[in-house]
Amino acid sequence: MSNGFETLAIHAGQEPDPLTGAVVPPIYATSTYKQDGVGGLRSGYEYSRSANPTRTALEEALAAVEGGVRGLAFASGLAAEDTILRTVCKPNDHVVIPNDAYGGTYRLFAKVNERWGLRYDPAPLGDIDAVAAAVTQKTKIIWVETPTNPLLGIADIAALAELAHSCGALLVVDNTFASPYLQQPLALGADIVVHSTTKYVGGHSDVVGGALIARDQGLADELAYHQNAMGAVAGPFDAWLTLRGLKTLGVRMDRHCDNAERVVDLLLAHPRVTEVLYPGLPEHAGHEVAAKQMKRFGGMVSFRVEGGEQAAVDVCNRAKLFTLGESLGGVESLIEHPGRMTHASAAGSPLEVPADLVRLSVGIETVDDLLEDLTQALG
Ligand SMILES: Cc1ncc(COP(=O)(O)O)c(C=O)c1O
Repeated sequence: MSNGFETLAIHAGQEPDPLTGAVVPPIYATSTYKQDGVGGLRSGYEYSRSANPTRTALEEALAAVEGGVRGLAFASGLAAEDTILRTVCKPNDHVVIPNDAYGGTYRLFAKVNERWGLRYDPAPLGDIDAVAAAVTQKTKIIWVETPTNPLLGIADIAALAELAHSCGALLVVDNTFASPYLQQPLALGADIVVHSTTKYVGGHSDVVGGALIARDQGLADELAYHQNAMGAVAGPFDAWLTLRGLKTLGVRMDRHCDNAERVVDLLLAHPRVTEVLYPGLPEHAGHEVAAKQMKRFGGMVSFRVEGGEQAAVDVCNRAKLFTLGESLGGVESLIEHPGRMTHASAAGSPLEVPADLVRLSVGIETVDDLLEDLTQALG
């Protein structure tokens, strides 16, 4: 099969159903499978926590679009993240995490896994020396988000992979914000890619899910063992919705990027906006690295508003077409106040976000309507 991105997204793992020729992989709503005599499994299917054909189709498609040996689909992004930690780490091990990681990722380290003895240190991932200084003899993972949520920081995946490997650690990249259409971390040296497929991969704000894609077969097998042993798998309906979303990821991402670029232009020219955070801007600290490792710069835009926290909250409250809500990556535009919403769990920590920050997930609506709404919301 040809291997262009869109071709893989639409066809990998999705051969027409052998029984009926159905073009779309069916939703196998079954927990178990008839065995042809004890141990006589048909195509290896035994019990749906271990494997389900709808989930297999999604997992194969995800592996193909990220260029990995195996994909694994989970009930949520955080379930996927936790599975990495419990596969790779044990008590007293250490992980370097981004100093502006997604709040839920930070909470997983700070409030859940630390109680089980897993140590972590936040570091500014844009500064390789600072990351190197945070590494200890016990470091098992350097954990990367790029772009980061919500400050749109950029980390150099290839340079961090080299650093991680020189210290005997793995490089894990949360590729949720970029999506595999814009950035393929495994090709840059990462060992595991993690996704909240809830976001751009699913793309329609109708399903929560997560995924892991690994570069090396041995590690993929260990992750798969833990996926089954821990059990936080994607159900067949969720896998089917996510796979449907993945098919159109390429065309959606291009429109997300087009619209985000127009939104950035509007914000840059607006007198009440004090700073625009978007890796596509030449003045963004990570612009050169982003241009090297990303196809385009994505649909997420953050900005700071004159007048502090209340002014930022007011902008969020006045928006109409931009729906006030958490999450991101769907076809509809969303607006939120990270300090009080998605990143409230980082309040008082080194990962606290600025109070005057507004985050936009720029959707694929008619761009002029989006610009009109933002103009009125900014007042
Ligand atoms: C960058 C990033 N990683 C991981 C997650 C967690 O994914 P989920 O909400 O699917 O558990 C999120 C959720 O917002 C996210 O934005």
